[in-house]
Amino acid sequence: MKIKLILILALLPLLSLAGGREIYSEFCENCHGFSRQGSLGLPLYSSTIANHSDRYLQRTIKSGRPGRIMPGFNLSDAQVAKLIRFLRAGIKAPKYDTTPIKGNIEAGQHTYEKYCQRCHGVNLEGGQGTGKNFSWQKDAEVSPPALANQGFLYSAEDQMIKHVIVNGVKDTEMVSFVKVFNFNEQAVDDLVGFIRSHEKPFDHEHVIKKIDEPMSFIYTSPYKLEQTVNKLRESAAAYNFRVYPNRALLQGLGEFQVGDEKQVVVRFCNFRNMQEFLKLDPRLGVILPCRATVIEDEQGKVSVVLENYKHAVARFNNEQMSQSSSVGDLIEKMQEMVEEALW
Ligand code: HEC
Ligand code: HEC
Repeated sequence: MKIKLILILALLPLLSLAGGREIYSEFCENCHGFSRQGSLGLPLYSSTIANHSDRYLQRTIKSGRPGRIMPGFNLSDAQVAKLIRFLRAGIKAPKYDTTPIKGNIEAGQHTYEKYCQRCHGVNLEGGQGTGKNFSWQKDAEVSPPALANQGFLYSAEDQMIKHVIVNGVKDTEMVSFVKVFNFNEQAVDDLVGFIRSHEKPFDHEHVIKKIDEPMSFIYTSPYKLEQTVNKLRESAAAYNFRVYPNRALLQGLGEFQVGDEKQVVVRFCNFRNMQEFLKLDPRLGVILPCRATVIEDEQGKVSVVLENYKHAVARFNNEQMSQSSSVGDLIEKMQEMVEEALW
């Protein structure tokens, strides 16, 4: 909390950026991190997006990357412009010619298989996991983005793709293939041609679905903090959830202070639900298992907060997942479980 405050104060002299910072905090920070260091999303340092044109950023923000976690946003042109100004922090935007680059697709495929496939995937589907902290590929610090993604191909100019292959992305595993592997210009053009050959007509209006439901459910507990935690654990077990042992609690560190509040997180899961979800979308691994957060405020009032997973699920742009009734069923079951505990 303190660190966050100091950082905000440090940013104050750059007041002309204020609008962008606020939009960033509201829509992007969850995934790209407070300091833009990446978490669920890629790092968005000014130096890492220095390869990207304003056109690329505008399109990426508005259309997202369907099938990956990056949603499209219904922001106005003015909001997007502010956001981009904030992200750039004064670093000049490159401009790319939008004429297509002609390359030999077969030759490009050959080079791709040899040099790029191990990171960007056999079908250019990107690395496993997502973003930074949630990269499941142990040898990659940042999960390599999906190059066959229609949102990416809609946004990226051929010249930008070429620029990235030639120069790499600063401080990431994406090295300069010209410097490190001595690629000549023809090899790079062939690669661009091969990547571009995956483009299909794309519905770029694809935006995150608005859900007319609360972000979370908040209950007031008639019990004290520790008693509430115990009641929740009992109730979860009665509802056929496996309750995770709270190692921190066992070590006497169970609650942590957030500002003036104390919080304890109770984690639980039902393996049948979990497997069903993971089959629909393996990326759900980043939000499971379920949790209930017990909060005691400075006046000693205790509440229990359940996240409404429908919002998290909507971000996955997975139609099948959004339509499945199992998420709604699980949320109802969790609500009943909490109500039972606080009865
Ligand atoms: C729910 C998580 C999430 C949110 C919210 C989110 N992003 Fe992303 N973003 C991602 C992921 C994941 C990727 C990488 C896509 C991939 O793996 O193919 C990404 C990629 C990007 C990229 C492309 C970076 C590159 O190197 O090409 C940009 C730019 C970006 N996001 C900007 C934003 C902005 C601006 C916002 C807020 C308006 C935002 N994102 C909100 C998850 C998110
Ligand atoms: C060691 C793993 C690795 C290899 C090998 C690799 N890349 Fe990458 N690539 C990455 C990562 C990680 C990023 C994301 C960097 C960032 O923006 O944070 C990336 C980004 C890119 C981007 C920009 C995409 C975007 O969303 O911004 C392109 C284009 C790209 N790579 C093409 C290639 C090509 C073509 C090859 C083969 C010549 C290749 N890469 C080889 C890891 C790799």
